[in-house]
Amino acid sequence: MNPSSHRTFRIAPSILSADFARLGDEVRNVIAAGADWIHFDVMDNHYVPNLTFGPMICSALKPHAKTPAGVPVPIDVHLMVQPVDALAAAFADAGADLISFHPDASGHVHRSVQAIKAKGCQAGLVFNPAQPLDVLDWVIDDIDLVLIMSVNPGFGGQSFIDSALRKIEDVRRRIDATGKDIRLEVDGGIKTDNIRRVADAGADTFVAGSAIFGKPDYPGVIQQMRAALAV
Ligand code: DX5
Ligand code: ZN
Repeated sequence: MNPSSHRTFRIAPSILSADFARLGDEVRNVIAAGADWIHFDVMDNHYVPNLTFGPMICSALKPHAKTPAGVPVPIDVHLMVQPVDALAAAFADAGADLISFHPDASGHVHRSVQAIKAKGCQAGLVFNPAQPLDVLDWVIDDIDLVLIMSVNPGFGGQSFIDSALRKIEDVRRRIDATGKDIRLEVDGGIKTDNIRRVADAGADTFVAGSAIFGKPDYPGVIQQMRAALAV
């Protein structure tokens, strides 16, 4: 049995690489192609040197985030903003299902986690490539997701940073020690040819932007990713 075979894998296409002129169609098409979650990258030109979309775009896309049969597909909001709390609340009101933030962008990490959960959303913490995991010692029992950055946040289309694999292994050990159902998501540079290595390190949820939206055949890419995970 391979080490990851007991996990349910999720593929979360990042609409950062979608066609912004046709975002509703892009969300529907990538869901029809097999996306499990929609990853929504929020950048503020302050915490990261880029600017994307806010809660109004999230609420506009919410009705499109469902399967052709009408089953809702979770919107996975990745906040790259500082400060965190006001925008997290606005995204909860805009229909986000999961909200993750960078702990160094919040003055009070535990309070931000509780505020997200009080709004009825799942809460996640995000770690940049050169950041230690120490904060997890104090909040791992309170969160639903850990998101490991395998690129520096701010842009799609960057190359996977290999040291993320060691960090994923470390997070997997910490999650397993809790005995809780906490997702381990990885974000940046995920392609059909490295997704299996990332799963073997312990990840169960995979963000992919350019790998999916950069190709015309979304179902083909997602099927190739699932095939790599199934081996
Ligand atoms: C980067 C974002 C990522 C990005 C990944 O700051 O958090 O979600 O869209 O893009 P790719 O898959 O192209 O590396
Ligand atoms: Zn992201």
